[in-house]
Amino acid sequence: QQQEKQRLVEAHEYTAKLYHYILRNTEPAKPAMDYLRSRGFTDALIEEFGIGYAPARWDTLTNALERKGYAASEMETAGLLSRKQEGEGYVDRFRDRVIFPIHDGNGVPIAFAGRLMTSGQPKYLNSPESPLFSKSRTLYRLNEAKPVIRRTRQAVLFEGYVDVIKAWSAGVHNGVATMGTALTNEHAAVLKRFADEIVLCYDGDDAGQAAAHKSIPLLQGAGFAVRVSVIPNRMDPDEYISANGPAAFVRECIEGAVSTIKFQLIYLRKAHILLEEDGRIRYLREAVKLVARQDSPTERELLLKELSQEFGVSIDTLKQESSEVRQREK
Ligand code: CTP
Ligand code: MN
Ligand code: MN
Ligand code: MN
Ligand code: MN
Repeated sequence: QQQEKQRLVEAHEYTAKLYHYILRNTEPAKPAMDYLRSRGFTDALIEEFGIGYAPARWDTLTNALERKGYAASEMETAGLLSRKQEGEGYVDRFRDRVIFPIHDGNGVPIAFAGRLMTSGQPKYLNSPESPLFSKSRTLYRLNEAKPVIRRTRQAVLFEGYVDVIKAWSAGVHNGVATMGTALTNEHAAVLKRFADEIVLCYDGDDAGQAAAHKSIPLLQGAGFAVRVSVIPNRMDPDEYISANGPAAFVRECIEGAVSTIKFQLIYLRKAHILLEEDGRIRYLREAVKLVARQDSPTERELLLKELSQEFGVSIDTLKQESSEVRQREK
């Protein structure tokens, strides 16, 4: 079984090299190179991340793997080929997609993600679960980020592959991403071996912010200190870097990541209509409830002071409301 796995790994190594070679050296890959250039991928990034291209054909990889002596059925198990919809035989799983190779925490290639260059569905096609690849455990770029995570005891968690890559080029070398699935306890356990603090750097859109909201208790439950980037204008980290540059990204989004309570207050605001009196009241009551659950009296006081100033309610009133919540929840 170990030997079987080793064969699948070798097939992934071979496939990664082939797709990378095709991107770098062949005519049909020109649109893919143009696409990558238009998204700001330099040669250095393409090399560092081993990016490739799967041509718009059904048999490129199928034939290449056969020539190498791999059984097609075995390569379907590995997630590299698919069974034909009709009739016998196998076809390439990835067609006309930019390829991002995915490695396990030890740098062993175990899967691929393929991105369409046009709008269409699905935008990313990932390898299926296989004897090598488990989405709920894998973190993109963990092997490369590991030394920096160990040294700083901090990991930055992204939603997307391109976010990790662009953040890396901005000097953030402790970034990893989940595989387009929600963060799991297994991911948290893997990170806990190297990190004490997580900076959540999810997309600024509603889906990203909701995902951050859900990930906070999971990470805190695993024992992490958590800070959260709030990226403006619904941008994702890649878009923010393109719009504002790498220095602003590091300063505003990484160093400027806010405490979880600040994030929760920002998140809560979006659910209330603050232009209306009863919206303001409801927001304030919920906000005080969140503040009341903070352990530190100093932190509670500072946050209540901010709320008091913003909403024109006396600090004494807010303090009283906060103590009532604490009393109730004791
Ligand atoms: N994802 C996926 N399948 C999809 C869409 C998304 O697996 N059909 C995963 C990918 O891992 C992707 C992540 O979810 O990187 C975040 O999704 P999204 O924000 O939509 O994509 P981006 O990472 O921003 O991709 P891009 O910048 O290339 O558009
Ligand atoms: Mn190369
Ligand atoms: Mn997103
Ligand atoms: Mn995104
Ligand atoms: Mn993006």
